[in-house]
Amino acid sequence: MQVKTTNETRTILPEIDLRKVPRHVAIIMDGNGRWAKQRGLPRVEGHRQGAESVREIVRAAGDVGVEYLTLYAFSVENWNRPKAEVAALMRLLRKFLKDEIPELQKNNVRLQAIGRLSDLPPEVQEQLHESIEATRKNSGLTLVLALSYSGRVEMVECVHSILREIKLGHLDPAQVDEKVISQHLYTRYYPDPDLLVRTSGEMRLSNFLLWQLSYTEIFITTILWPDFRRKEFFAALQDFASRQRRFGGV
Ligand code: FPP
Repeated sequence: MQVKTTNETRTILPEIDLRKVPRHVAIIMDGNGRWAKQRGLPRVEGHRQGAESVREIVRAAGDVGVEYLTLYAFSVENWNRPKAEVAALMRLLRKFLKDEIPELQKNNVRLQAIGRLSDLPPEVQEQLHESIEATRKNSGLTLVLALSYSGRVEMVECVHSILREIKLGHLDPAQVDEKVISQHLYTRYYPDPDLLVRTSGEMRLSNFLLWQLSYTEIFITTILWPDFRRKEFFAALQDFASRQRRFGGV
């Protein structure tokens, strides 16, 4: 496995068994609001610092050879937040997508997105499309942003998609099995996550990747997302390396 050895990785990497780095890490980035509140700052400042953590974790994941990183950036339920907060998050997302292109190119990162992307404001959709297109041929880390995402909505869309194929005569109902379902989810191009990280100590899945997380190892930390940086990410990978995965066997 090829590993970039920046000064920072060199000091921290010896702690991780690189043969046991998860192929796919999914993260529920939680605690931006609380981080801001603790400092008497507006919630949006927590999101801004959270975007800095995103930058750092994308880089760190690529450095140690993680192949897929899926980040829960905005849920379908998040549309119910105050209008000003939603608008600020959308502005931040658009800015991130635009500003990060050179960095993603430099680090060979391929950007992808899952969710009800047509719910996003047109200018965000345009920028997302442009950034995905610009990084399409990169062969390093695949960064998947879950945007206007809901695991249940994904399953409903999956059922509709399968029903359409059956109606068209392309699929026999008797053929529908786990593989067919996986092939009709947003995530059909990616392996299931090996590790799920949730920050801020909440013990919930919050409608994230409900099908795909069936055999995923879970790591929950009380650290708030804006404080979750390279060192904390490597600690999660180190913990993962010590797990015995049995996939229901013995
Ligand atoms: C959860 O914290 C976080 C979100 C709802 C949004 C995540 C967004 C970012 C990390 C920044 C922008 C994203 C990208 C990809 C640039 P919360 O607001 O629910 O925190 P709380 O539970 O403490 O209130």
